[in-house]
Amino acid sequence: MSNKWFSPLVMGMCLGVGASQGVNAAQAPAPAAPALAPAPLAVPVSINALMVTLIDHSAHHVWDHQALERDLSDEEWRMVEYFAIQLAAAGPLIALGGEGPQDTAWAADPRWRAMAQALSSAALVTMDAAKTKNKELLSSAADTLLVACESCHSVFKPSSPTEGFVHQPEYDHLYHLFRPAE
Ligand code: HEC
Repeated sequence: MSNKWFSPLVMGMCLGVGASQGVNAAQAPAPAAPALAPAPLAVPVSINALMVTLIDHSAHHVWDHQALERDLSDEEWRMVEYFAIQLAAAGPLIALGGEGPQDTAWAADPRWRAMAQALSSAALVTMDAAKTKNKELLSSAADTLLVACESCHSVFKPSSPTEGFVHQPEYDHLYHLFRPAE
């Protein structure tokens, strides 16, 4: 499992040291280990699970607040900023792969990385809108966010989720904060 994180670059650097000194690596004393960046931690959950519990959840807080046809309170702007921060971090997170059956292949695809970056960028604009309490900017950021979701789904999302986690009904109680009481 940990092998997959052993970077070819690091291996190349180790080999390079021996070659440039012209020594037989088998006889030479082991060189002092260079200070290596630690291997990234493996993401222990699936992209399917993160989509539903983190990304979809946070995005609905943004969209629900954006849809309010009145000014937002300071507390509401704080909520928008809070969930935008989660979305901004979620982009790089899903670029690390995960435990789901397709996650490693998805994360290795350059289109995936670009779309994960687009998600993060839309979230950063949402954060700016929250910091400056700018409803117009929030509205366009929310639209850009939706495009980021849909453009990736149109390329990558299978017709039924790999692990069966869907938007509804399991997590529906987490958002739609402003739904009228039934
Ligand atoms: C970089 C690509 C990518 C981006 C960006 C992305 N998704 Fe996903 N999403 C996927 C993939 C792939 C799946 C299917 C995962 C699986 O089945 O293992 C998925 C699954 C989901 C699911 C669960 C499956 C379902 O049909 O209900 C939800 C909900 C979801 N995404 C919401 C969102 C929302 C909301 C956004 C934007 C805020 C978003 N996604 C952005 C790729 C992406």
